[in-house]
Amino acid sequence: MKKKKIDNFISLPCLANARLKNDDQNIIHRDCFVVDDFLKEYGKNKKYFIRTFGCQANVRDSEIVAGLFDKMNMTQTEKMDDADIIVINTCAVRENAVDKMFGEIGQCKSYRQKKCQVCAIIGCVCEQPSNVDKILNTYPHVNLILGTHELPYFCDNLSSLLKNGYKRLVNVKSQGGSVFENFPSHRQNKYKAFVNIMYGCNKFCTYCIVPFTRGRERSRLMKDIINECNELVLQGYQEITLLGQNVNAYGKDLNDGSTFAKLLEQIANLNIPRLRFTTSHPFDFSDDIIDVIAKYPNIMKSIHLPVQSGNDQILRLMGRRYNSQSYRDLVDKMRRKIPGLTLSTDIIVGFPNETEEQFEDTLKMVDYVKYESAFTFIYSPRCGTPAAKLIDNVSDEIKHERFNRLVKCLEKHISNYANSMVGNVFNVLVDGPSKNNPLMFSGYTEENKLVHFPSKNLSLIGKIIKVKIISSHTYSLIGEIYE
Ligand code: 5AD
Ligand code: SF4
Repeated sequence: MKKKKIDNFISLPCLANARLKNDDQNIIHRDCFVVDDFLKEYGKNKKYFIRTFGCQANVRDSEIVAGLFDKMNMTQTEKMDDADIIVINTCAVRENAVDKMFGEIGQCKSYRQKKCQVCAIIGCVCEQPSNVDKILNTYPHVNLILGTHELPYFCDNLSSLLKNGYKRLVNVKSQGGSVFENFPSHRQNKYKAFVNIMYGCNKFCTYCIVPFTRGRERSRLMKDIINECNELVLQGYQEITLLGQNVNAYGKDLNDGSTFAKLLEQIANLNIPRLRFTTSHPFDFSDDIIDVIAKYPNIMKSIHLPVQSGNDQILRLMGRRYNSQSYRDLVDKMRRKIPGLTLSTDIIVGFPNETEEQFEDTLKMVDYVKYESAFTFIYSPRCGTPAAKLIDNVSDEIKHERFNRLVKCLEKHISNYANSMVGNVFNVLVDGPSKNNPLMFSGYTEENKLVHFPSKNLSLIGKIIKVKIISSHTYSLIGEIYE
């Protein structure tokens, strides 16, 4: 008789546990990536597909999962319907990202009935109990659900699912988290790399789900990060972006004298042509960091400095730990010390009960700083966060109207800056043929501005070349090769 398939719920998410710090936090796990013979055999002639939602941390996590699949002898496919294993790496930071993900899960259903044997949902969405309930109740074709802390054990979970023939396996361990080294990795780009320097966040901004989904702040050891960066330099990488939810707090948990300024300086000295980092929290942006950025030409002078709001009361309610004046003071100091500095930011519109005057303070901040680029969001309540408990008296209509005004205000400064680049020559790291126009190539300036220029020369890909800007749009520039 055929055995009935059963569910294996090893662990389910719990938001209360997600707030806690682990006793073993910062224990460095060095060799956790077991790809057993069963998986190596299973993977032969099979294909995997990974869809990634959300931030660069998720992009990096997907590269690690891809690295594990490579070790299983699998190959990557760009087509979901061609895959034996589909992985959807999810983002929970706003509801629209979650909605998009559910749309994507729905799409896999027909593939699961044909070729695909595993449909795995991983990442931040799985850390929220209500999302896991919804997946389990609505999408029976999803058979693997893993939380962010299970990434290093992806293969163990997959192996258990396949070997035991479980109907579904769920493993989400809400916790502070620890640090893992020696990840296998399948980098998506041959000359631009992301390098994690720390994981998690301790800031608990009142609107944000990230500290719950990614655990407490924990830093990798400096020597491990430097080794990874050094290898990338030797492989010919042109740009490294250091990743963390709040990179300026790097090292605080290590108690060995490591700081972000020291780390940045040592990596700059490896002579990587372009060094970037994201994201910075204004609270932790200390003078020593500013000095190192100013000192090294290969540390890019375009810095992402989320402001979220320009109003003191809203900033207090958000738990941001700075006010509009201290943010302005920081910007002034950075501009004084770092010639050529350009700033980008994140702004949330429609935090609960935001008044017209409070919103206008945000517009004033935008006019003061004159950001060169920005990500703008309408506040999205996240279940389990303190802000989600606030009763909101502002209509969606007003929020959208304010959002549009904010975008207009930002675009004025973004366009002004783009216009000021016309006629000048910039270093551009070439990505390759542009997505929408086969006659054009694309790349980014040091200021992180997207440039399109006519070329068919594939040997330019991954090189830094000089491009003269001949015209500008708000979000991109048109140029021509200068030399
Ligand atoms: N609603 C809207 N935007 C949010 N962000 C984080 N949480 C929320 C939320 N609940 C934005 C912040 C953060 C960026 C990554 O996402 O601006 O900086
Ligand atoms: Fe979220 Fe605030 Fe941490 Fe950024 S600093 S990840 S907004 S809690």
